[in-house]
Amino acid sequence: MCGIVGFTGTRSAAPLLLEGLKRLEYRGYDSAGIAVMGNEGIRVEKVSGKVQKLCEKTGDGAAVPGSTGIGHTRWATHGAPTDTNAHPHLSNDGRYAVVHNGIIENYAALREELTAKGYTFLSETDTEVIVHLLEMYDSGDLKSTVLRAVARLEGSYALGVLCADQPDTLIAVREASPLILGVGVGENYFASDVTALVSYTKNAIYLDDGEFAVLTPAGITVYDCTGRQIEKPVTRVTWDVEAAEKGGYAHFMLKEIMEQPAAVRAAIAPRLRDGEVVLDEFDLDAETLRQFNKIVITACGSAYYAGCAAKYALEALTRIPVEPVLASELRYSDPLIDAHTLLIVISQSGETADTIAAMRECRARGAKALAIVNVVGSTIAKSADWTLYTWAGPEIAVATTKGYTTQLAVLFLLAMSVGRKLGRLDDALYPALLYDILRLPKLIQNAIDLNHGLGALAKKYHRASSLFFIGRNTDWASALEGALKMKEISYIHAESYAAGELKHGTIALIEEGTPVIAVCCNAALEDKTISNIVEVKARGARVLAVAFRGDRKIVAQANDCVFIPPIHTLFTPILAVIPMQLLAYYVAKENGCDIDKPKNLAKSVTVE
Ligand code: F6R
Repeated sequence: MCGIVGFTGTRSAAPLLLEGLKRLEYRGYDSAGIAVMGNEGIRVEKVSGKVQKLCEKTGDGAAVPGSTGIGHTRWATHGAPTDTNAHPHLSNDGRYAVVHNGIIENYAALREELTAKGYTFLSETDTEVIVHLLEMYDSGDLKSTVLRAVARLEGSYALGVLCADQPDTLIAVREASPLILGVGVGENYFASDVTALVSYTKNAIYLDDGEFAVLTPAGITVYDCTGRQIEKPVTRVTWDVEAAEKGGYAHFMLKEIMEQPAAVRAAIAPRLRDGEVVLDEFDLDAETLRQFNKIVITACGSAYYAGCAAKYALEALTRIPVEPVLASELRYSDPLIDAHTLLIVISQSGETADTIAAMRECRARGAKALAIVNVVGSTIAKSADWTLYTWAGPEIAVATTKGYTTQLAVLFLLAMSVGRKLGRLDDALYPALLYDILRLPKLIQNAIDLNHGLGALAKKYHRASSLFFIGRNTDWASALEGALKMKEISYIHAESYAAGELKHGTIALIEEGTPVIAVCCNAALEDKTISNIVEVKARGARVLAVAFRGDRKIVAQANDCVFIPPIHTLFTPILAVIPMQLLAYYVAKENGCDIDKPKNLAKSVTVE
């Protein structure tokens, strides 16, 4: 989705803005632009296409002199991805430039009003109303002009504003769209994503909704929506720029797959103390926990599938009914949710619009929300009742990998902690689960090591036009994520089915050579899944099984096998996904796909 950067200091702004925009490329975008305050006023350069094109157009920024500026990568919503629709937008008098993330919901009425007043619109975007509002409300005082203009806006917006009358000043405004300020020495920054800031500063201020900031090279002042100055804490970003670079890997996705042992270690290590799972951030006593008569999990995409996979552990260990619901469905479903519902909200980015809306809807009905989030300071993290961070570090590839496995790790810890507190987790089972949790980083490494050969295996599957992923129970949940990984990065149609459902319709699609990925990591149901393998093979399917190392029964049935190390059934999804991530990666590579930035997708889906 769209990305914003802003810089004010004494160095040349354009190269820094372009560098920042490159770091935001992973979010997905289709045009880019910068506006820099120069000797002759604000100069805007923008292109449809990649940031590299903008670099070429501007001689890597050298052609756009000036030390204060704003930049943007746009993911088109209102209007096609053209040069004209790209941000920044300029006011008719050329004195204001604006970059915007989010959606101005009342833009049509504003556009009509502004047109009637004689303002000329050049683009089809909702954003352009903002620059004309700034010009209309211009009072000579930038801060109050911005306040008056944003008071007219409805919707979500992170804004960066540049005004020719105050050449070294930037204004950053946040309402329901992330915006982070970077505190430097003699220079200051803002960005929609901390990845654009870390190579310049690790000192960040996270703006909250309704707040705005005035930045000059000398300092940053933050205000609330009434214009009253407020104090905000400066947070130290804990990861460095290498964490957001490829580090020798061909793709971020591969790097992030390989980082999973370390990421899961970071998620679990601080939460295991003296043989106990300790969740400091969600330390409810048994009496409070007993008030919850159901758990609803809400999320989108892979985060939802993490919820589907963790449902089994949560129900088995806490004996509380668990219902995973897609956030985009939950928000409009008039849900049966009240103060006795524990809502678990899962999101890597913490900014997914549907997930935020579902959380708001459920909290308004009295539910308490526990967020499981990766991005520190994100909207979901800040607005939940409790937040458990997954500590996965920056995830750059659009397709989530370590984001998903760290979510599972935290959900498993949660299931154990709540089960233990409620006295519903069997004393004999607890040590066995704890043993597996402690070994998770090693087991994940082992699952990666066992699948070195997947590059070669992918050659057998990459020409398929359609793949089916099947499994039962926990294996079905794993299959859901496996199929999503495959389709989003390789563009091959992939479907996941509960294996027992095949014969109720889908088996009609199986024909000679159809690849079927069968997840068989649930020992109690293995024979059942094997019977489904036999059924599809009888109709010509080529079966690739995902199974425990040493499982001879599967080797005898499947055409190909990939293995994971044995682990307790409830935790299998965290390992079963590893070969499927690698399979999707190598199939996509074989097909020459843009693995880190698949077409039509964005990393952080901040619009509905
Ligand atoms: C798939 C993927 C998406 C996200 C979904 C939710 O690989 O990354 O399906 O899982 O868009 O995003 P977050 O977790 O940021 O809320």
